[in-house]
Amino acid sequence: MEKVSVLFFPDNLIAHVEPGTSLLRAATLAGVELKSNCGGDGTCGRCLVKVKDGRVNVKSTGSISQRAKQAGLVLACQSTVNDNVVIDIPKDSRLDEHQVLLEEKDILMERDEDLAAGYDFKPLCRKVKLTLSEPSLTENVSDLNRLQAALRNEMECGDIHIGLHTLRGLADTLRTGDWRVTVTVTQLNGCADIVHLEPGHAEKPSYGLAIDIGTTTVVVYLLDLESGMTLGKKGTYNKQARYGDDVITRMIHASDDSGLNDLHLAVVNTINQLIDELLSQSHVSEDDVHIAVVAGNTTMTHLFLGLTPKYIRLEPYIPLASVTPPVKAEELGLKINPSAYVACFPSVASYVGGDIVSGTLITNMAKAEEIVLFIDIGTNGEMVLGNQDWLVSVSCSAGPAFEGGGITFGMRAMKGAIEYVRIDSETFEVEVSTIGKSRAMGICGSGLIDCLAKFRDVGIIDRAGKLQTDINTPRMREGDDGWEFVLVWGDVTECGKDIIITENDIKNLLRAKGAVYAGIRSMLKAVQLEEEMIDKVLIAGGFGNYINIRDAITIGLFPDLPPEKYVFIGNSSVKGARLALLSQDAYREAQELGKKMTYLELSVGNDFMDEFVSALFLPHTDMSLFPSVVANNDQKGE
Ligand code: FES
Repeated sequence: MEKVSVLFFPDNLIAHVEPGTSLLRAATLAGVELKSNCGGDGTCGRCLVKVKDGRVNVKSTGSISQRAKQAGLVLACQSTVNDNVVIDIPKDSRLDEHQVLLEEKDILMERDEDLAAGYDFKPLCRKVKLTLSEPSLTENVSDLNRLQAALRNEMECGDIHIGLHTLRGLADTLRTGDWRVTVTVTQLNGCADIVHLEPGHAEKPSYGLAIDIGTTTVVVYLLDLESGMTLGKKGTYNKQARYGDDVITRMIHASDDSGLNDLHLAVVNTINQLIDELLSQSHVSEDDVHIAVVAGNTTMTHLFLGLTPKYIRLEPYIPLASVTPPVKAEELGLKINPSAYVACFPSVASYVGGDIVSGTLITNMAKAEEIVLFIDIGTNGEMVLGNQDWLVSVSCSAGPAFEGGGITFGMRAMKGAIEYVRIDSETFEVEVSTIGKSRAMGICGSGLIDCLAKFRDVGIIDRAGKLQTDINTPRMREGDDGWEFVLVWGDVTECGKDIIITENDIKNLLRAKGAVYAGIRSMLKAVQLEEEMIDKVLIAGGFGNYINIRDAITIGLFPDLPPEKYVFIGNSSVKGARLALLSQDAYREAQELGKKMTYLELSVGNDFMDEFVSALFLPHTDMSLFPSVVANNDQKGE
């Protein structure tokens, strides 16, 4: 069948596809990243495009607003092509418009900060310079035995392994270097693995990567393994997003082999793009990167390794593997030295993955006497509670609301996202602050929490989250989908549309916050502890950096504990991976942590459901759990 062409503007990228192909698929083939939160089901309404020239067949299914239709937009996933067409991509529909925010810190400080956690600097991989004795007729052991003996003299190691590929180059390397050789050695579990040989004594150090694979974003750090310094950090969207926003949609896509391969390649490409940028910025060659440590949730780890996540989704939710063996970079297609090892953090269960093990490692909570609660909120809320004697973990499906999913103007924490809201209690006039101080484009998780707290504070919503339609302001109005409140008028927004919060948005937020709080309560119940017995709460994740704790307590997302007990720790997943890269002991401990954590399945029994239903109010049906909120209301005379 003759192919048709689909030209995408303003990028000027073209795809040649079979007639009947969807515009979403054509965009992927052309290299245009469209938002497609539902993975092409037609339910999220995010993949809007405009047909500039030619005709497309639009299915009558699909969730598209009247306003979008009138503006001449169609859903790319619900539109197929039969002839050549020219398509315009609006700014709002692009996935790659925004930058992932990384913590800005004095990166030179970081090695000491990590190692202050009590680990010696002993990187997983390093270069050793050796001078071997020259062989003779009387001293005639093989080249390999000669190398192994010299290495044993230099470093503590048990067995010494060498791959066939590296071994093939040994004889010439030794003689070219006049019996001086630089050996790159990886020590993952006691034994030494020779992964690279260079003739003579090399000047350049060995480099390593710490990688966090999130469902939404991927972050890579490049480290100099001789000094332990972080040379650079980069983050971007996980290109898997084109196959769906959440892990469940991606697992469904991965159910067949080609889907699994799509998702595997998408994440490897995302990482390779970041590696390229980091290496060229730091003037490091990919051949000098000899190890990578990867932390990701269980599904992300499976997809990265090309393992089927099929049974993670189906009851009784069994992963293919919790502990995976280190593999060579060339097997995965990572653009570093092909012989480099890539080691993934172990998972605890299907929904408590290596990212949480990594986070737990960096918090040091497994060595603490005090009781620590670790919370990582993304699409799932994952929590670990415990101390040096015990650790319990849970995962609750918070839904994507805190990452902007399912919220009319929801977006991730990036430039243009509303992060703080102030509302006048008399006039209901609103002031907002956005990330990057630019024009508002939407509202991110921290902004939504702030918004909900302020709405409640000034009486825009009641305790059940219902909009109070009788308040006197033009901002309260009836829209296409029922009542809504205008946060920012369209004349000052980036998208030119009014940024609104609908009653449905509020319901989704209540469900998300209810799930997290119910998860915490269920975990406390299981170990028979009260909230006040928690000594410290550590909040991880990019989203966590911007939350106002007072607001989070006001809406009943977090327990009503003194704000000083809360500590933000940023992206703990990548930090744990970096720590493991710099310390063999930390790497070993991460393997142990995976086994030590008890996983509590919340879908067994009724406790979680009961807690969830009680938590669907602001802050909760049981106000005695939120004494500071009650005291605040009393002060205001409510
Ligand atoms: Fe098209 Fe969701 S509506 S990807």
